[in-house]
Amino acid sequence: MLRRLHHTQPDDFAFTPANQAWAEAQITKYPEGRQASAIIALLWRAQEQEGWLTRPALEHVADMLGMAHIRAYEVASFYFMFQLQPVGSVAHIQVCGTTSCMICGAEDLIGICREKIAPNPHELSADGKFSWEEVECLGACTNAPMAQIGKDYYEDLTGERFAEILDELAEGKVPVPGPQNGRYAAEPLGGLTSLTEYDSGKTQYNASVQRAVDIGDTVKRIDGTEVPLLTPWLGKPGKAAAKPATKPKAAAKSAAKPKAKPAAKPASKPRGTKTTTKVARKPVAADGKPELLKKARAGGADDLKQIKGVGPKLEKMLNTMGVFHFDQVASWRAKEVQWVDDNLEGFKGRVSRDEWVKQAKVLAKGGTTEFSKKVKKGGVY
Ligand code: FES
Repeated sequence: MLRRLHHTQPDDFAFTPANQAWAEAQITKYPEGRQASAIIALLWRAQEQEGWLTRPALEHVADMLGMAHIRAYEVASFYFMFQLQPVGSVAHIQVCGTTSCMICGAEDLIGICREKIAPNPHELSADGKFSWEEVECLGACTNAPMAQIGKDYYEDLTGERFAEILDELAEGKVPVPGPQNGRYAAEPLGGLTSLTEYDSGKTQYNASVQRAVDIGDTVKRIDGTEVPLLTPWLGKPGKAAAKPATKPKAAAKSAAKPKAKPAAKPASKPRGTKTTTKVARKPVAADGKPELLKKARAGGADDLKQIKGVGPKLEKMLNTMGVFHFDQVASWRAKEVQWVDDNLEGFKGRVSRDEWVKQAKVLAKGGTTEFSKKVKKGGVY
């Protein structure tokens, strides 16, 4: 099947504040230079937000990750889970047409899609509520035929029940997913023949269906408000619920720009030069902004790359921001760490993730860390 961008595209795209915060947190999962690894997660969230992947969304995500736009197009056009054209506002129906499902009646289900939704896959229904496509095996062959609707599987379908489900969804109801013929899960149609002791004390529905029913989000798309803990690897909750980390694309660029005027990059001190400056302790500004310098002090900037997690790009960014010395980093407390974390465009969360302050405290006193030793030996590039 030929997969290409839709002929009609919106003018622009921006993540919602909650999704923007979530996306930035995802990027911090990956080491410097590997931000492109976050592309699937970010494209998926963009699709959840809009329903499908628009060209501006693809380009926005590529820009966030420092990738050429073509790379994002390649990913989106390769994976069938990405929708490259508008989908139904209520649900996009994915009917499995592979062997088990085909033998058990998938063609009937596809016929119903043609009749009730649109004659061709990837076309919107007249009311815009539904779209459909045939997909390859979704791994629920024991419960064939089946269809994925939203995030859930509707299994053991008959044509009649499938048509009812579509009607219920059109009325705004959310039919209970899972087997539609009274089966609990994927046990034999005649009931369990082994492990029968596990039959008692079960929930009303099987585990995944019970969860879907409990949280009631079967066809609801992810909008960034579901999981408050966005950055567990940073040991702190995300900010989506409280305040967005940054503004959407256009605003973000200017907002995140460091306030200090870029100074001409001073020459770093030669590797191995000891720095013995005492760690300064000053009151923390209300917004957490640390003390920034217009330029490095006499004697030149410290080699910030001796801090694990700071590469040449980040060092340049820090210098531009007004950070030149180990003792500056060593003096940061929680609020200041948060401020810098929030203002490292493209590297958010690195200060806390890589424990810069802890390392800088050692380096500011003229000490060394395992990592700084390697840097001095020239073992880190
Ligand atoms: S053949 Fe349909 S789910 Fe496997």
